[in-house]
Amino acid sequence: MPGFTAYVGSMRSAHQRKGSLSSFVSAASGAVGQIVGQVAKLRGCYVVGSAGTKQKVELLKDKFGFDAAFNYKEEPDLTAALKRYFPEGINIYFENVGGPMLDAVLLNMRTHGRIAVCGLVSLHGLTDPVGIHNLFCLVRKRIRTQGFIQSDRLYLFLQFAEDITKHYRDGKIVDLRKKREMGRLCM
Ligand SMILES: NC(=O)c1ccc[n+]([C@@H]2O[C@H](COP(=O)([O-])OP(=O)(O)OC[C@H]3O[C@@H](n4cnc5c(N)ncnc54)[C@H](OP(=O)(O)O)[C@@H]3O)[C@@H](O)[C@H]2O)c1
Repeated sequence: MPGFTAYVGSMRSAHQRKGSLSSFVSAASGAVGQIVGQVAKLRGCYVVGSAGTKQKVELLKDKFGFDAAFNYKEEPDLTAALKRYFPEGINIYFENVGGPMLDAVLLNMRTHGRIAVCGLVSLHGLTDPVGIHNLFCLVRKRIRTQGFIQSDRLYLFLQFAEDITKHYRDGKIVDLRKKREMGRLCM
């Protein structure tokens, strides 16, 4: 299901167009994010991911082929961190977390950028969710923002199985098959 979510949100929405666009994925080492990043690479994007431990950051770069990755918990200023990785701005943001990361992303989006809203995990369980401050960037930068639910697109499942299986067999999409790696990731 997470792989299908990544396929629907990435190949059929966020990264539908091929080309050298800049793409940012939050919660990038999660079940969804790791596939999104690899799909974005297949589409020709420059891809950066954020994750919450050093081990996850290493996996993103060494195993999943992200161009760069950073530990958001070690960044005192998320806006400055994103500026460092995207000096010209972000074309596509695959949103998994919300909260302060979304606020920082909005400031770093390019004009006519795109945000695919998959989830807002930082809000899970909060009874009083924190608001977003930089929403006016949506207007000023004409950012197209769209949420999606994978189950609306179940008609794409066979296509997903075909496409992703092919990339998997060709070694263009990898997963964490070794338990040792899973252990490292969960630390
Ligand atoms: N739209 C849909 O159809 C659909 C379907 C499935 C899932 N989703 C959504 O997709 C997102 C990712 O799902 P997943 O299955 O990949 O999740 P996952 O494998 O459980 O990974 C989630 C990761 O999010 C990060 N995280 C947790 N709390 C956070 C916080 N407060 N701020 C920033 N990062 C935080 C953690 O990684 P770090 O250690 O790196 O922080 C965690 O490992 C979730 O928002 C989920 O609700 C949507």
